[in-house]
Amino acid sequence: MSQTAPTQDELKTLVAQAALAYVVPGEYLGVGTGSTVNKFIDALAHSGIAIKGAVSSSLASTERMQSLGIPVVDLAMVERMSVYIDGADEIDPKGHMVKGGGAALTREKIVAAQADRFICIADASKNVAVLGAFPLPVEVIPMAVPEIARRFKAMGAQAVLRAVNGQTLVTDNGQHLLDVKGLRISDALSFENAVSQWPGVVTVGVFAHQRAQVCLLGTPQGVQTLVY
Ligand code: 5RP
Repeated sequence: MSQTAPTQDELKTLVAQAALAYVVPGEYLGVGTGSTVNKFIDALAHSGIAIKGAVSSSLASTERMQSLGIPVVDLAMVERMSVYIDGADEIDPKGHMVKGGGAALTREKIVAAQADRFICIADASKNVAVLGAFPLPVEVIPMAVPEIARRFKAMGAQAVLRAVNGQTLVTDNGQHLLDVKGLRISDALSFENAVSQWPGVVTVGVFAHQRAQVCLLGTPQGVQTLVY
């Protein structure tokens, strides 16, 4: 009997299910954004695990959780969470990530910063030696977009304003997003520090300060648990 390799979608389902083991019943839980997280939200809703409330990183995740009966609370009500669960566009051997493919990087970083542990859920394609092949999302105040694009150009990279259906994307925070190609981010901490200082940058999609402590990686052989 021939066996076909699992699809990326099936690997996302696998890690979403595995992440349930990290949910602490009766506590607040930080919840990220994206297609992998959507599968986690679905799994949580059907798991019977009762949490005190979820702190959401986007309007999209809030809507999905509320529609499935998961209580969502405002971050202002919560001082610390023990766990934040989210996907990534890339993750390197130190647990540093590129995030923001789903345009939710700013709220993701804010919520992750109030959690003791970031549990990253990702299919194997996201595991990279060096960050930068995935275009780096950077949320920017609209008036600063041209200057931020020039700064990336001076580094040899190309920043493109993200649009959806021909319309400039506006984030949940009312800002714009640049996707930056041509970077090779070997020192993620220094890069995050530097770009975060540029006037007009709201959030850079490098998550080095808010790195993952654990990555549940979906591989054709099953879920691999990477601890950083
Ligand atoms: C959203 C994110 C996502 O976690 C990231 O884009 C991965 O998404 P997906 O699970 O759909 O592959 O950072 O802003």
